[in-house]
Amino acid sequence: MQIILGIPGGIAAYKSADLARLLANDGHRVRCILTEAGARFITPLTLSSLTAEPCYGSNPDQGEWRANPSIEHIELARWADLVAVVPATADIIGKAANGLASDLLSTVLLATRAPILWAPAMNTGMWAHPAVQANLARLRSFGHSVVDPDDGILACGEEGSGKLAQVAAIAEAILMHGAPKLSSLIGKRVLITSGPTREDLDPVRTLTNRSTGAMGIELARAFRDAGAHVQLVLGGDLPAPWGVETVRVRSALDMLSACEARWASADGLVGAAAVADQRPETFAAEKVKKGERPETMVLVRTPDILATLSAARRPGQWILGFAAESENHLAHASAKLQNKGLDAVLVNDIQGGRAFGAQANTLTPILAQGPQAPIGPLPKDELARAVVHWWGHQLEARGTVQ
Ligand code: CTP
Repeated sequence: MQIILGIPGGIAAYKSADLARLLANDGHRVRCILTEAGARFITPLTLSSLTAEPCYGSNPDQGEWRANPSIEHIELARWADLVAVVPATADIIGKAANGLASDLLSTVLLATRAPILWAPAMNTGMWAHPAVQANLARLRSFGHSVVDPDDGILACGEEGSGKLAQVAAIAEAILMHGAPKLSSLIGKRVLITSGPTREDLDPVRTLTNRSTGAMGIELARAFRDAGAHVQLVLGGDLPAPWGVETVRVRSALDMLSACEARWASADGLVGAAAVADQRPETFAAEKVKKGERPETMVLVRTPDILATLSAARRPGQWILGFAAESENHLAHASAKLQNKGLDAVLVNDIQGGRAFGAQANTLTPILAQGPQAPIGPLPKDELARAVVHWWGHQLEARGTVQ
């Protein structure tokens, strides 16, 4: 990708150097534009050394402008596949929201047709101010993306929201724009379950499993990158990915109700969660003391989320399931496909403990017509992208693209 990184004057400007280096090392071309205030925090030399590209100042007297400075802003605006402003200050957000163009960065922001991404960072009071929020809402209405700031202790000593998001999260948001899109998934609503469920016995004890939710989160990223609108119903403690609407759940029953509330408006469902098949029959509101509970626990079945949603589906909705099997994996997965009424099952052969904690994994897709060529072995992120591409092409072949 060809990325313009606009760096206004905020204390988090030094983190933009790290972002520029990360993107350049990943093979992208990064040209930085410093505003006048930005150049007080970080130098053009730092940025041009890290990116091996020119770094521009706010006017032709600063940074590296070329022979014809009168059209530099138009050339840069055309050159960019994406313009990111990091850290986005209240000042540049206000200028762009109101169409003001007083220096190189603000003129490029106005002239470009490329996607624009903002990563704000400022004092908590400034961030919470209705003027800043109204300006950001305006930028969102123009189709711009925003990577919201994190909570934490800010450079000014205050604690609250306004801390620049993690550099890795900003890079992820930038690179999403360059990822290849799939026509069968662009704008489609994909609901994904992921992670373990927790079935509580009392306020301190729970039954759960060792799933982390990492694969479901990678699938959410891959569907998002392919152009889908993703809703992730997530158990466990892993952080939610950027650009995905995430609903946190605890038990299998919570997961089912979160999915049921969203299923009617979804185009597809991906069941990547490790849902508990049983839960304790009773929940004690107070911690149970030794000897108060019988030594044997009574468990009851939890609803099968995929089967329940499959029974309620309308024409055109598709469902992908997962299966982890230690023997006869193709036969068991085909049975799940039939019994739960799924379009495809991706089966993981876990014989001998394979897959759990492994660096690379293989999934075999099963369709109604039988097993397909295995996908992998690949690390989880690449495997998720390969699965999404395989499924996107299946949908195209089925002609479900409207
Ligand atoms: N699943 C679900 N709801 C459940 C159990 C499982 O939606 N209560 C989904 C999983 O997310 C996965 C698929 O069903 O996509 C297969 O789950 P798995 O636990 O492997 O299979 P089960 O149907 O529970 O059968 P078994 O445990 O007998 O293998």
